[in-house]
Amino acid sequence: MVGTIAERAAPASGARGCRGADNALKKILVLNGPNLNLLGLREPTVYGSATLADVETLCRDTAARLGVAVECRQSNHEGQLIDWIHEAGAAQRAGQLLGLVFNAGAYTHTSIALADAVKGSSLTMIELHISNVHAREAYRHRSYLSGVAAGIVVGFGVDGYALAIEGLVRRTTARP
Ligand code: DQA
Repeated sequence: MVGTIAERAAPASGARGCRGADNALKKILVLNGPNLNLLGLREPTVYGSATLADVETLCRDTAARLGVAVECRQSNHEGQLIDWIHEAGAAQRAGQLLGLVFNAGAYTHTSIALADAVKGSSLTMIELHISNVHAREAYRHRSYLSGVAAGIVVGFGVDGYALAIEGLVRRTTARP
């Protein structure tokens, strides 16, 4: 991984649908946690047939439509996710990042450290789950991230990534 989130922020061209001219310079980070690299193969009756590459294409298309840039990253490692969250917090404080769309996978249900990272970085974060975790096993009903999230998108399949990006742009962009 070369460069920081801010260094790699590419201005989006043609800011159609953008509520503020500033957004053309700003970026959204989409982070996917453990096992989401297996999308398409993994439990397709729960998660669908789209691959992670398909999800990243959806994110890029959605961001382009909204006139923002997007960067997508995936890791199976909690510490790596924490480092990226810290980096994202710094980029947001520098005015270069609108916020984070975060599918933390199973770490959602176990990781106080990830919640502390989001809170400690004062990062605007939308929690996302492809499946409706509340209709699944009881251990998926608890989320350590919900309490530090600006919003939550659950159960819309991979379309949730587009909804979360749009929600984050609407949430973080001043209306005229
Ligand atoms: C998930 C739900 C989690 O419970 C699970 O561990 C995942 C994916 C979802 O997107 O529905 O890995 O976050």
